[in-house]
Amino acid sequence: MLDICKLGEDVLREECSDIKEFDDALKMLSEAMIDTLDEADGVGLAGPQVGVPKKIFVVHIRGEKPMVFINPSIVGTSIETGVYEEGCLSIPGVYHDVVRPVGVTIQAQDVNGKPFTIQADGILARVIQHENDHLHGKLYIDHLEEREREKVIRSYEKKNRIRRKQKARV
Ligand code: NI
Repeated sequence: MLDICKLGEDVLREECSDIKEFDDALKMLSEAMIDTLDEADGVGLAGPQVGVPKKIFVVHIRGEKPMVFINPSIVGTSIETGVYEEGCLSIPGVYHDVVRPVGVTIQAQDVNGKPFTIQADGILARVIQHENDHLHGKLYIDHLEEREREKVIRSYEKKNRIRRKQKARV
């Protein structure tokens, strides 16, 4: 299992670099990321969240096959937008509504370097946009108005302090 980086760690704010080597190390990284994602009971996890500032993210929607996106690029978005409550494994315990396009077209490569294009809507489109943001140092809270963002951060920090105290007791 990989450690998940939390809000405040610099790696979450980096612009990620392209992946050029499609080797065994990349396959191992993507498998470890999927295992970490499943263990954390999340739906998406990006490289910088596990301390790797490279263009890779994984998506695992319950009941479907896990997907790996390498060097992804969103090439189209719907005009229609929707609201959905998002959370992030790097900001655990807090959630907020975020407005985003309801549909996206994304181009990426698989673990073997083979290019593919996916047109997604619904939850998949939502997760793809959230994870793709991570590759550009962006978090879902950056989409919120400043006052709302501060509220989410304060609530996260409060929960985090309580969690640390509980940990210290055992
Ligand atoms: Ni996230």
